[in-house]
Amino acid sequence: MKILLIGSGGREHALAAALNRDPELTELHVTPGNPGIAAIATCHTINVDENAAVVALAQKLNIDLVVVGPEKPLVNGLADALKAADIPCFGPSQAAAQLEGSKDFAKKVMSDAGVPTARSFTCRTQAEIEKALDAFGAPYVVKHDGLAAGKGVVVTEDRDLAIEHALQSQQVVIEEFLDGPEVSLFGISDGTTVIAMQPAQDFKRAFDGDLGPNTGGMGAYSPLPWAPDDIIEETLEKVLNPTVKEMAARGTPFVGLLYAGLALTSKGTRVIEFNARFGDPETEVLLPRLNTPLAQLLFKAATGALTANMKLDWSADSAVTVVLASKGYPASPQVGEPIMGIHELEGSSVFHAGTTMAGGVLQSAGGRVLAVTGMGSDLTEARDKAYRAISRITLRGSHFRSDIALNAAIAEKGN
Ligand code: AMP
Ligand code: GLY
Repeated sequence: MKILLIGSGGREHALAAALNRDPELTELHVTPGNPGIAAIATCHTINVDENAAVVALAQKLNIDLVVVGPEKPLVNGLADALKAADIPCFGPSQAAAQLEGSKDFAKKVMSDAGVPTARSFTCRTQAEIEKALDAFGAPYVVKHDGLAAGKGVVVTEDRDLAIEHALQSQQVVIEEFLDGPEVSLFGISDGTTVIAMQPAQDFKRAFDGDLGPNTGGMGAYSPLPWAPDDIIEETLEKVLNPTVKEMAARGTPFVGLLYAGLALTSKGTRVIEFNARFGDPETEVLLPRLNTPLAQLLFKAATGALTANMKLDWSADSAVTVVLASKGYPASPQVGEPIMGIHELEGSSVFHAGTTMAGGVLQSAGGRVLAVTGMGSDLTEARDKAYRAISRITLRGSHFRSDIALNAAIAEKGN
C-alpha cells in the first residue's frame, strides 16, 4: 500500500512512524513533512493549501490512501477533491469537518444527536453576549465560532475580558463552565462504524501546575490509570456513535478521526469540543502504544470497511510525551535557534514538530519544536524515559513542563 500523509508536525511524525510499522505499507510519502519525517519517509514540497496540487501529487505517485493530519486542508475541502478523483482519503469532507470548523455547528449536531455537552448560546451582538454571560455566571467560557488555531477559547473570571474576547469574532458560542478532569478520546470512523481508541490526557497550559496561557498542548500521557473502567464504552455509546449516526443522517457522513474532548463532571461526561483529526500531542502517546497495523486500519476506515467487532491491540506499556517549546511560546515564539543533542535513547522517541534544516544545521522553526515520548511499564518509568531524553537536548531559551503525568504517576504508585 502506498500512502501520502499531509502535514508537518509532531502528530505527522508519530503517524509516519506508526504507518511505517505496518507490513502492508510499501511506500510512505509526506507533504510537506519536516526533517524528522524526512528520515523515515519521502517528503515532497508542494502547496498543501491547494487541493489540486495534492490530488496531482497523489495521482503521480499512484497513491492508494491519503491520510490528512491537520484540520485546515479538511475544512478547505481536500477530502472532497480526493473523492472526486477516486482516491481514498482518511479525513472528513468539508461539510463533515464543520464539526471542528464551527463551534455552533458542533453544538447543533450534538443537540440533534442527544450528545451531552455544556449548555450554550450562540451570540452575535454585545447585548446577546452580555445576556449569555450573565445567564451562566463566572467562570465565563467564550469560544470564537470558526477555526482559531488554539486562540479562540477564553475561560475567565473577568466579565470585561470575556466581552472583549467575544467582540473580536462575528459569532461566538458562550457556554456553561464544565468542572472536572479533561480526557481526549478518539474514534476512527468509516462513516457508519466507529472504533474507539484508548483515552489520553493533554496538558494545555504553558507552565507547571496548569498555570499560564493556553497552548496547542505541552504534553500528554496514556493510558489513564484513574479513568473509569467503562470510559471507552460510555463514550462510544453516548458520544461517538450518536454523532456519526447524526452526520450520516444529514447526508454528510464523517469519515476520519473524530476527536472527542471530554470533561468528566460530577454530573457525568460532557463534550467540550470536537476535532476532525488526530490530536497533537495525544497522537505522540497513542500511536507508539498501538500494535494494530495502522495503514490497514485507516484504509478500512477510508473505504467503509470497518466492523463494530474490530478490537484494537494496545501495548500494556504507558507512554508520556513532553513538548519542548521555543522561547516566548505561545505569545511570540523565537525561532531559528540550533537544536543539539537529540538522541533516541532506549524506550524514547523524539518527534519533530517545528524544525527545519538550514545550512546542514537542525533549527527550531515553530512554537512547539519537539515532542519527546518515553515508554515504560508504568507512568513513572515512561516519565523517566521522556525526561531523560529531553534533558539531553539543547535549544537556547526553550522551556518544557516538568509535571506532565506527574499526578497520575503518583496516584498510580499509590494503588
Ligand atoms: P478548545 O479550544 O475548545 O479545546 O478549548 C480549550 C480549552 O478551554 C479546553 O481544553 C478547556 O480546558 C477549556 N474549556 C473549553 N470549554 C470549556 C468549558 N465549557 N468549561 C471549562 N473549560 C472549558
Ligand atoms: N491536543 C489538542 C488538539 O489537538 O487540539
